[in-house]
Order: sequence, then structure tokens, then C-alpha cells
Amino acid sequence: MKALDAECQKPVIELRGIKREYRMESKPAKDGTNAVVVRALRGVDFSAESGEFVSVMGPSGSGKSTLMNILGCLDKPSGGTYTLDGIETSTSDSDTFAYIRNRKIGFVFQSFNLLSRTTALENVELPLFYRRREKGNSTRQTSQARKDQVIAALREVGLADRMDHFPSQLSGGQQQRVAIARAMVNDPAFILADEPTGNLDTGMTLEIMGLFQELNNRGKTIIMVTHEPELAAYTRRVITLRDGELVSDKQITDRRNATADLARWKQEHALLSEERP
Ligand SMILES: Nc1ncnc2c1ncn2[C@@H]1O[C@H](COP(=O)(O)OP(=O)(O)OP(=O)(O)O)[C@@H](O)[C@H]1O
Ligand SMILES: [Mg+2]
Repeated sequence: MKALDAECQKPVIELRGIKREYRMESKPAKDGTNAVVVRALRGVDFSAESGEFVSVMGPSGSGKSTLMNILGCLDKPSGGTYTLDGIETSTSDSDTFAYIRNRKIGFVFQSFNLLSRTTALENVELPLFYRRREKGNSTRQTSQARKDQVIAALREVGLADRMDHFPSQLSGGQQQRVAIARAMVNDPAFILADEPTGNLDTGMTLEIMGLFQELNNRGKTIIMVTHEPELAAYTRRVITLRDGELVSDKQITDRRNATADLARWKQEHALLSEERP
């Protein structure tokens, strides 16, 4: 049965021979050439199926952000093909490319990127407004249906009771939860998270990793860039880039449980504060 399932499952993400070169003009060299070519990605093959939780690691300059930009349809590769949820993105026109970006990918950034003068509810509702304005979109959603969808997303991240709060009235971890709800509200093919806990302390980091694990256990597909092996240990698979090449791709067999680690961390923290005079 498992083999059959695996056979039926199509990859959500399929990268074949992805290259990204940056051409930079510089002073003419002795041979008369004046273009320097930076090969940020040198032929990356990678695919991920629905329900995976993958971390992308690698040293500074190895090509992580370049790969994220391509996966997120923010940039097109110089060579190779990228198929997302069955759609070939490399040859799509700019309208289709924008549609794929808005509908198929949920972004979560290190800096949350919430609008400060709008409530949690309005922040999460934003992608649904963009959706309304899409060319050729004839399905009208009532404002009540939209609100219900937003509340469902906020409930999934455990923040339904904070929907009227502004970002400044929420903790860093709660703000990132709102951003995760916003990323999920359109039911994207996958969530793309770039150092999502980079601005959070240990407790909030574990909370967010626990939430990602919970969402992934419920079937959400997540791709996360991180510098920290301790965070990669909460995912199910780690790919590593070096000098623009994918040098390792490993399944994690003994995955850590972030919720259990958070409980342990809280206990130790409480003991430490008790010891203080
Ligand atoms: N817009 C650009 N123009 C020219 N070169 C670029 C550009 N963006 C990235 N590069 C180069 O491509 C390579 C990969 O960069 P990238 O930003 O993808 O690395 P990274 O793995 O995200 O690094 P970090 O961990 O420091 O964020 C680097 O050598 C970088 O200098
Ligand atoms: Mg980077």
C-alpha cells in the first residue's frame, strides 16, 4: 500500500538542473571582456512531495537565498526547469508567474512583515483581497466567507482570540503566528519560510517550531531555510548547498519534538529563576 501511495504521489516541487547566473559589468580585463559571471546555482536537482518538511542549509554564499527566490517564484532561473504543483513555471508568462506566487506559495519571513496599523485579522485577510483582484477571477467571496476563512487560519495557529490585536500588542512569537496564518489562508501548495525564528528568543523559537511540526503533521508541506542545525533537527529532511551545488540530501530518522523541548526548557527556566536570590 505504501509503495502504491508513493507511486501515486506527484511531487509538489520538482527542480531539474536549476542554474542561476548573475552577470556583473566590471572594468574591462586584459582580454577585453568586461563581464564577471557569478554562478550562484550550478545545476540543482531537487524534488519534494506533499507533506514533507525540508530544511535548506549551507554556509553563507552557498546559494540558499537564490534557491529560495526561485522556489518562491520571485526570480526565474538562468537554466533548468521548475515544476510547481504540476505547473511548469520557467516558461509561464508574467501573469501566470504572479498567480502561482500568490496562490501556490505561503511566505514566512524572519521579520514577520506584518502591516503595523492593521489588526491580526486584517493582516491575514490581505492575500484574499489580492485573490479577488486577480485577472479572470469570477468567483466572488462574501465578506463573511472571507472572515470565516481568516478566523479558521488564525485558529490553526492558536490565535483566534487575538484577531483584533495590532502587531504591537502581540509578542514576537504571536506576530510570527499571524504571519504563518497569513501564509496559510490561501491553502498554498507549500509554505516557504526564510529563517522564520531568526528574530525570536529560545522559548518563542521552540513554540514556532512546535507549530510548524503540528501543521506538518496535519499535512502541510514546509520548506525552511535555516543556519542552525538544531532547528533542522525538527524537520524531516535536510538538504545542504555548497558553492551553488546540492551536496547532501538526508532524511532525519530521529526527529526532535519541539513541544517536548519547549516543556523541558520552561521547566529548566523556572528552576533557574527559583535559584536566583
Ligand atoms: N543579485 C546578485 N548579483 C550578483 N551576485 C549575487 C546576487 N545575489 C547573490 N549573488 C551571489 O550568489 C552567491 C549565492 O548567494 P546567496 O545570497 O544565494 O547565498 P546564501 O546562501 O543565501 O548566503 P547567506 O547565508 O549569507 O544569506 C553569492 O556568491 C552571492 O555573492
Ligand atoms: Mg541568504
